Amino acid sequence: HTEGFSFPQGFLWGGATAANQLEGAYDADGKGLSTSDMAPFIPHELRDGKDFTFDVDSVQLEEYLDGDTGVYFPKRKGVDFYNHYKEDIALFAEMGFKVFRLSIAWTRIFPTGEETVPNEAGLAFYDKVFDELLKYGIEPLVTISHYEMPVELSRKYNGWENRKMIELYLKFANTLFDRYKNKVKYWITFNEMNMILTSLYTGGGILEDRILGTKEQVAYQATHHQFVASALAVKSCKEKIPGAQIGCMICRLETYAASSKPEDALQTLKEDQMNLFYPEVQARGEYPAYMQRYFKENQIELVKEPGDDQILKDNTVDYIAFSYYMTYIGKYDPNDNSNSGMLVSQIKNPHLQVSEWGWPIDPIGLRIALNRLYDRYRMPLFIVENGLGAKDVVEEDGSVHDSYRIDYLQKHIEQMREAVQDGVELMGFTSWGPIDIISCSTSEMEKRYGFIYVDQDNSGNGTLERSRKDSFYWYKKVIESNGSEL
Ligand code: BG6
Repeated sequence: HTEGFSFPQGFLWGGATAANQLEGAYDADGKGLSTSDMAPFIPHELRDGKDFTFDVDSVQLEEYLDGDTGVYFPKRKGVDFYNHYKEDIALFAEMGFKVFRLSIAWTRIFPTGEETVPNEAGLAFYDKVFDELLKYGIEPLVTISHYEMPVELSRKYNGWENRKMIELYLKFANTLFDRYKNKVKYWITFNEMNMILTSLYTGGGILEDRILGTKEQVAYQATHHQFVASALAVKSCKEKIPGAQIGCMICRLETYAASSKPEDALQTLKEDQMNLFYPEVQARGEYPAYMQRYFKENQIELVKEPGDDQILKDNTVDYIAFSYYMTYIGKYDPNDNSNSGMLVSQIKNPHLQVSEWGWPIDPIGLRIALNRLYDRYRMPLFIVENGLGAKDVVEEDGSVHDSYRIDYLQKHIEQMREAVQDGVELMGFTSWGPIDIISCSTSEMEKRYGFIYVDQDNSGNGTLERSRKDSFYWYKKVIESNGSEL
């Protein structure tokens, strides 16, 4: 159906990253320690079947801060973009990128989060990065907060559990708006806000062993604080940068009913409402009634300040950004009243193949997600993450034949074309990890998403040399043809 089709003029093709998985140089030029610098590498055999290896408790945190623990922290090293940014951006430009999504390490700007004056060396680093991007005509798309914060704020306030974070985040965001107003037009306030439910430490700097009430109570209170912070950032971004586009972001959990049983359909609807709770507040401007009911039935009491609801109402986003990796199954369980917002599908879909990490591969689900979000919000959408984490093999001549990655992206972009023809307003597509970076969930190096290979292993050995995989040449052609040649 898509022969001869090309995407709208000005479609933003590119790639997406996060500072803590990319930059390294964790203590350079005055940078403070961030929560992600505390994510240890745990070898596969010791993982106990857990998908996430980054969460730490208070005791571990203090131990890791002490220094000599013998533990390896891959996100401290990243892939050293801090010292390779020129070379990396030149490679993005060679592929024809129109946009590059990156985040700012909060701790480069405010090392503990509580300084009143920002760290000039940190600000200067991002100036250099933006200038380099703009030199090639690549628009920066900046995520203000991507799964990290100063570790001091986690220790002192238990992160976003505390309302104080709103003021500290705004100081950070305003510093960025003032400094980069002539360089950055596209912004995202928080990465995957819904994931705080499953990853309190990563999403909110919250140490679970410090929680007095229930985990869910704290997750939603922290979410409320992030909603208010996000809305106030939207407000000042618009005041400070005329023409800026600022969006919210979710990890889209597209969910199918396990059967045609009405109970399963209803459960699926509820799961969906939990996922759409975030754009309901950030794009529509109010807490939906179904959440009020959920809070009541689950004894969750949010502390709000007078004026919060008005702030949310008055400062909605310009677009909805989302990540899409896989789909999920909704099944009614009479013993479980929670709508969990889980990350990895607990029920297997027999119709789908999975990645080496067990993530179901479902291109059609992307078309469904795009249609569903657009039908509901009638607002521009931006796919800011999608891709395949896989192990790569380097041939003797240095080449990497990653046909599996090309196949994954090709099929997803095909479904994007269908969705655009369905009428969906889509601003762009940034594939996750255009250059190999440290995995968010497992802190591994071998879970690679890149078009650009980086020579480094799980323990941090390697030359860090960059090279082009087969997918590099393929993506270049996709961009060149504005998506008409896949
Ligand atoms: C998203 C995150 O959830 O998924 C990224 O925003 C992350 O930070 C990506 O890297 C892929 O997850 P992983 O664990 O394979 O790196």
